[in-house]
Amino acid sequence: MTDENKKEKRVLNQFVRGLIGQYKYSQILTFFLISLQAAGNIVLPLLFQQIVDKSLPSGDMSSLMHYIMILVVVMVVALSTGYLGEILFEFTGLKVKKELNRRVIKKFLDVPYSFFIRNSSGELATHLISDIDNVTMMVSQILPITLLSLMQIAGILFVIFFMNWKLALIPVILFFVFYMLVAVINKQAQKKSLTERTLFGKMGAVIINILENIKFIKVGKPYGWLNSYFESHQENYIKSKKKLVFVLKLVGTLGNGMFGIIAFAVFSIGSYMVIKDMLTVGQLLAFWAYIQAIAGPLQLMIQVNMFKMSSYGSVKRVMGILDEKEEKRSDMVVPSVVSKLEAEDISFSFDQKSIIKNCSFSTRSGEITAIVGESGSGKSTIMNMLLGLYKAQEGNIFIYDGIKSYNITEYGISGAGYLEQESMFFKEGTIKDNILLGREVKADKFNEITLKTGVDDFVKKFEKGYDTLISEVSLSGGQKQLLAFARIMVDDPQVLLLDEITSNIDSHTEEKIQELLKQEKGKNKLIIIIAHRLSTIKSADRILMLSEGKICCEGKHEELLSTNEHYRNLVSIQTDKH
Ligand SMILES: Nc1ncnc2c1ncn2[C@@H]1O[C@H](COP(=O)(O)OP(=O)(O)OP(=O)(O)O)[C@@H](O)[C@H]1O
Ligand SMILES: [Mg+2]
Repeated sequence: MTDENKKEKRVLNQFVRGLIGQYKYSQILTFFLISLQAAGNIVLPLLFQQIVDKSLPSGDMSSLMHYIMILVVVMVVALSTGYLGEILFEFTGLKVKKELNRRVIKKFLDVPYSFFIRNSSGELATHLISDIDNVTMMVSQILPITLLSLMQIAGILFVIFFMNWKLALIPVILFFVFYMLVAVINKQAQKKSLTERTLFGKMGAVIINILENIKFIKVGKPYGWLNSYFESHQENYIKSKKKLVFVLKLVGTLGNGMFGIIAFAVFSIGSYMVIKDMLTVGQLLAFWAYIQAIAGPLQLMIQVNMFKMSSYGSVKRVMGILDEKEEKRSDMVVPSVVSKLEAEDISFSFDQKSIIKNCSFSTRSGEITAIVGESGSGKSTIMNMLLGLYKAQEGNIFIYDGIKSYNITEYGISGAGYLEQESMFFKEGTIKDNILLGREVKADKFNEITLKTGVDDFVKKFEKGYDTLISEVSLSGGQKQLLAFARIMVDDPQVLLLDEITSNIDSHTEEKIQELLKQEKGKNKLIIIIAHRLSTIKSADRILMLSEGKICCEGKHEELLSTNEHYRNLVSIQTDKH
């Protein structure tokens, strides 16, 4: 084992121990219960031996009854402690699962946005569901089961050693050989498990992606392509799973083979010893019963090993997510008034590809600034930088409250109201929950917001009004935008950042949003909108035009129309469209 492997194993074990450590008391209780069960299972063959060697030859009925009574008690105790132990395994498992889910969700909230660009949400969801399940099983079940099996095997070996050490050497040596073989196979299994988990995540992501695009699929019907697209991912996964199964099942087969050899050797050599008076028939019977009794825990250990190896990838992935570096939270005091925003020479690139190139601009409150430009010119990227989702690799962004400046390059404008083209909602929440998101506002203010944004017009038509679940209704694109607008109005944000919210809504809703923006502008808010529609662009007080990540011109609509060829071209395309 290389140092790297050793270190990795140590880290994995530490992680598992850390998780179990929190449930010390239930683990101690589980341990106690399974010890009783294990002890019961070890005592049973000894009782059989007593019956065969003592009660049967002497024909002593009372001693036979005596042993049978003890046998019944031991069996009842072993069964009931086993039952309680199993329940405790499950309960601990549920606790571990709850804790892991909580930790992973918290991690998702604390890692930088770039994490979600690197990892698809489909893969993350698959891992969250399946990998956490595996880790939970591993943590809650594997240790107690291993412990139980090991205790039983060790107890049995100890007793048979005591009975006849020469005969006992056979299983001991063969167990050792088996252990060495399993260690070699496990290494292979770990590698294969990692690949299998990755491909499983990919397949999950493909399924989620198909569901996300179901509307398009129903209309476009690309069934042939879709089938081969899905099947190719499924095939890859199945292939990797098969490779893993080949390795894992090898351990089981080896175990069975080895068990057969032990049984055969013990029986033949034991019979020879009985003939030579080196062993009593009762002892051979007990020995035989012990060897049979080893089969149970041994099978369990093999299954546990199989599960452990197939979960190896899961543990690594969950650990990987939990190890992701969290972003620092901003401790900046949010200014209650924002008078100006200034970007100084900001640049941003994705994987060495320069997207925003030395842009400088300033916008002020009481104005609507529109960012325009061709698709892919970097408009949303700039907005993501203002929001702190992407960090400028060069340059700085400042906001001013009229007295001092705040550098928001690292964390973005906290408390900005942000709307994008497709607003998302929490489907199992009510409309009211989705507007408030836990924030408390007076009924008057709530009514004012919903009336002003026009949300009330459509919500009052729903039977349950604001208590309607989002999943119960099918909101139109425009209604979603108005609802999202109401949601950001709850905080009365000083800065509004809107990314193409009017591009796929009807003109009536667009007018409504224009009106709302005008009102907000009247309240001296700082508003930046990314716009494609000419009507929205025209209504802006200032226009910033982006071209290939650079600001190519800046000014008012009429000014730019008469002075800038590039802008004229862009506008003529917009005019053709609308
Ligand atoms: N996660 C990413 N990884 C790599 N490149 C990206 C990523 N996100 C955006 N880009 C690239 O950055 C450039 C600017 O993208 P951006 O989304 O800012 O354009 P946009 O002006 O908003 O376009 P649109 O009008 O189509 O919304 C594009 O070339 C895009 O391919
Ligand atoms: Mg965009």
